[in-house]
Amino acid sequence: MKIIKSEFLTSAAKSSQYPEGNLPEIAFCGRSNVGKSSIINSITGRKALARVSNTPGRTRLVNFFILNDSVYLVDLPGYGYAKVSHSEIENFGKIMEEYLGTRDNIKKLILLVDSRHKPTADDKMMYNYIKACQIPCLIIGTKLDKLKRNEIKKNQNMIRDELQMDPGDEIIFYSSLSKENRDKMLDMAFEGLGIDTETGKLAETELSEEK
Ligand code: GTP
Ligand code: MG
Repeated sequence: MKIIKSEFLTSAAKSSQYPEGNLPEIAFCGRSNVGKSSIINSITGRKALARVSNTPGRTRLVNFFILNDSVYLVDLPGYGYAKVSHSEIENFGKIMEEYLGTRDNIKKLILLVDSRHKPTADDKMMYNYIKACQIPCLIIGTKLDKLKRNEIKKNQNMIRDELQMDPGDEIIFYSSLSKENRDKMLDMAFEGLGIDTETGKLAETELSEEK
């Protein structure tokens, strides 16, 4: 998957603020601090396209980016951050429900989990929610650079077991820092979206449908 162009589009609190048009869309979800904004920067090769922070819970809106004028990338708010008020949790639920419930563009949800740890109860809930929505998904274990080589296979199996992953769903570990597994991760993330891997753009037929 060739990345030729990337732009930040908008931050949305509600569906009326989402970008229009019917380009395919990939959304990144996962616990606060798991590395959603970092992976978007790492994919686009831009250091600060999406805001990265050491303070969990920084991304509270639905942030839209566009890649190669062909596909939207979405940075969803993180969950599971301990120091949030009840009203913030409610707000998170509302934002996610509206996004997942109304956005027809979504072609794939990418659930990020920390490659070092057991998925949390919230991660399990998120995975089950994705399955209930019947949206194709990919699981990415983040921060691969922090794992020892002999932990990779073991932790992938552990995450598969804990999430009770559908055997048909794929999991890959990635590091936004070292970019290890970048090509494989990109192929898996963009597979099935109608993107021409040579040009990195939507295939001709899909582009003409877009007009
Ligand atoms: P919220 O916006 O709070 O939901 O968090 P987020 O999921 O967007 O996480 P973010 O990308 O802001 O990253 C959180 C922290 O993890 C930052 O300090 C990043 O530098 C760090 N981080 C992200 N990806 C990696 C990685 O692949 N390796 C390492 N070592 N650190 C990473
Ligand atoms: Mg973020």
